[in-house]
Amino acid sequence: MRRALAGALLGSVLGLAACPEDPSTPAPEWTQAENASELESPPSPWAEPWRPALVACAPCHERVFLEWSESAHAHAWTDRNARQSSREFTRVECRSCHAPQAVLATGLDVIAVEREAQREDGVHCLSCHGLPSGEAGVAGLRDLPTAPCRPRRVEALATNALCFPCHEPRQGTLAEFARSSAAARDERCATCHFPALEGRPGRSHGDWGGANERFVRTGLRFACRVEGEALVVELENRTPHRFPAESRTRSLVVRVEHESGAVEHRSFRRPNEGESSPDERLEPEERRELRFALPGAEAPRRVELLFKTFPLQPDAAAFVLGRWP
Ligand code: HEC
Ligand code: HEC
Ligand code: HEC
Ligand code: HEC
Ligand code: HEC
Repeated sequence: MRRALAGALLGSVLGLAACPEDPSTPAPEWTQAENASELESPPSPWAEPWRPALVACAPCHERVFLEWSESAHAHAWTDRNARQSSREFTRVECRSCHAPQAVLATGLDVIAVEREAQREDGVHCLSCHGLPSGEAGVAGLRDLPTAPCRPRRVEALATNALCFPCHEPRQGTLAEFARSSAAARDERCATCHFPALEGRPGRSHGDWGGANERFVRTGLRFACRVEGEALVVELENRTPHRFPAESRTRSLVVRVEHESGAVEHRSFRRPNEGESSPDERLEPEERRELRFALPGAEAPRRVELLFKTFPLQPDAAAFVLGRWP
């Protein structure tokens, strides 16, 4: 659905973007933004950070654009939950990461800085690819001076530091990662979240997060056994951060249906701000055994490992990460 919409939009601007200098194209409103005057008159339209990604990058990077369109990054500003909980972003402290400027320019060891224009694009291509100096061109892995968008090699693009300004200040994900064995091996967030896919050079910018059932399943190993009068559920977090990661809207639920028909739930999620309950989520790479008493030593009818993508989601709508027997 989103892909179809993005495709249609893309089709509709291709004509426009093919001749970006066309004087009959009225200047979009965002060029009036305060910051626009601070920019040294950018020589090419795709070098302006305040253009929609659809106009600035999509004409030449269609695949990346369509992938990004399906990711949470593209929806950071329009996401219904984010809009509601930030009161339509009138809570200014919520804007910085949901519509950020180029983090390579604003600093990789500080919180991201809010952008004045083109906020609908959320985490815009240039939030990550804008150059440190703010000059025309994009941050890439190679110097390609003859390519129209003038990519320059910026080492940091290929490091976890790129994620810090938005994923550390409120969430502590980089600190969690630092405690994992993956950190000792110098592994990258991008290995899982911007995966290299077969037949696609470079890295996918798509929906590789908690809303993708197949992806979530890769993050947890699960086994069950009966030991005397107890059911033992063994869990192993295969990610280098907590499971579930970051988001307060996700939860992991172990559902045990006893032979009697009685159902037991044990759930793990990040507590809300101000909530006093402890954070019992799995630690990075943790293995944990949960024990459930079995009345009459009768083996359970069924054990299910569920992943809920929003609070109060019914069991039947949750992702099933595992089932036993
Ligand atoms: C430091 C950067 C940062 C700031 C500041 C920030 N967010 Fe976020 N927000 C994120 C990141 C990263 C995610 C994605 C992972 C997660 O859920 O934590 C996110 C996700 C969310 C989600 C989940 C979206 C969904 O559909 O599940 C909501 C809601 C949200 N933020 C609301 C807010 C509100 C309200 C504020 C202000 C009080 C705020 N954010 C401030 C970085 C930030
Ligand atoms: C007019 C076409 C055009 C536009 C518009 C354009 N690019 Fe490019 N881009 C290219 C070409 C051509 C290459 C080189 C591809 C290659 O050699 O593999 C490239 C390469 C790149 C690279 C990869 C550099 C590397 O290390 O391999 C990045 C990153 C990039 N572009 C980002 C962007 C972003 C972000 C935008 C929008 C702000 C954008 N581009 C707009 C044509 C364009
Ligand atoms: C400039 C800010 C910013 C940077 C840099 C950034 N993110 Fe995000 N990221 C966000 C925000 C904001 C969200 C949540 C959007 C929402 O749901 O409202 C998010 C969401 C995500 C999600 C959930 C994806 C999904 O589709 O469900 C993942 C995974 C993620 N980011 C990984 C990364 C990784 C890995 C890096 C570093 C390579 C990174 N991000 C860099 C701001 C950022
Ligand atoms: C959250 C950060 C982030 C955002 C947003 C983002 N990128 Fe990237 N981009 C990366 C990272 C990280 C890499 C991969 C670096 C590597 O290979 O190690 C990358 C790689 C690329 C490449 C190299 C070729 C490829 O296919 O991998 C291009 C081109 C590119 N991005 C264009 C874009 C465009 C266009 C957008 C917006 C539609 C965009 N990016 C949005 C972080 C981002
Ligand atoms: C070995 C693969 C792997 C690596 C490496 C990894 N993650 Fe994850 N990540 C996952 C899996 C699987 C999930 C989904 C399950 C969960 O929520 O824990 C996830 C979830 C997330 C989410 C929540 C997405 C959502 O929509 O709920 C964010 C944000 C995130 N990771 C950021 C990061 C950052 C930042 C790093 C680097 C410090 C990183 N991840 C490293 C596998 C990985």
